[in-house]
Amino acid sequence: MAASSNLPSLKTAGSRHFQDNGFMVSKLRHVIESQQFTLPLLMDLFHRSRGMERVVARGGTLEYQDKILANLFYQPSTRTRFCFEAAMYRLGGKVLSTEQASAFSSEVAGEQVEDSIRIIAHYSDVIVVRHPQAGGAQRAAQVSSVPVINAGDGEGGQHPTQALLDLYTIYRERPLVGLSVAIIGELDRGRTARSLAYLLAKFDRVKIFFVAPPELQMKPDILTYLDEHGVRYELESDVDRVIGEADVIYQTRIRPERLRDEQGRKRYAIDPALLRKMKSDALIMHPLPRTVELDKAVDEDPRALYFRQAANGLYVRMALLTMLLDTE
Ligand code: CP
Repeated sequence: MAASSNLPSLKTAGSRHFQDNGFMVSKLRHVIESQQFTLPLLMDLFHRSRGMERVVARGGTLEYQDKILANLFYQPSTRTRFCFEAAMYRLGGKVLSTEQASAFSSEVAGEQVEDSIRIIAHYSDVIVVRHPQAGGAQRAAQVSSVPVINAGDGEGGQHPTQALLDLYTIYRERPLVGLSVAIIGELDRGRTARSLAYLLAKFDRVKIFFVAPPELQMKPDILTYLDEHGVRYELESDVDRVIGEADVIYQTRIRPERLRDEQGRKRYAIDPALLRKMKSDALIMHPLPRTVELDKAVDEDPRALYFRQAANGLYVRMALLTMLLDTE
């Protein structure tokens, strides 16, 4: 580890804080699904993320200059891939990256993700994978000698680091207990929506409104998990019926191939008319990219949080990398 780092001892501070409160902070090996994150782990991550805001403001650190991150993306990405790259560079580390692994890796020659990971693990200290099949990141983790981070797997899989930055963005604005959250869009296959639902279930008195056309509603696996954890939720197909009740509006895309009727998709859109029905202090979030479901006019509204949400990803992913790379 470089001696020239100006990084505060975030890990120590975070651990001590939680030991003082009687919690145990356990080590993360891989990041595959949101359910892995206990409350102490989440609070440790958020504490470190706050620290990373200060580190980035100072221009970064060299503390992880001996570490290499490998990005293996089999599907397109703007935010997640750039964000992990920026996070590693701000930590002083180095990056190997393929943005189109389906075309520019040996998958073209028929190589399975397991073999690719076995090789890349020799060249790097942490691997970030976006894979077209649900379970792809888990397959990678099973054979990897270094930590694997799921950057989105399949349709109906998960995107846990997106949910972590989503939750951090809410946490920076208000208490997480007692929140009322409307999650809108193509929920059955929406990996960000699924990962966020799992995380919200960690907090007391949360209520979730799942708002979607009936055929795209949240799948039973999540609903069963919420039932088992005593989390209140409602399934709704009419945005107007719940929009005024939500503290957080979490909008997601409905892809045209899932709902061909554009007017049908627009019924779930946030536009100036819907803004008038929201709470005056609602938080409007979206994992992005957006299409017709989030009118550009919303950008001017002070409740719009989605660009700050994306910016927060840098701090959260830096923090997460330190949790995986710190070995002591
Ligand atoms: N939110 C998100 O995952 O965006 P990208 O697909 O651009 O990475």
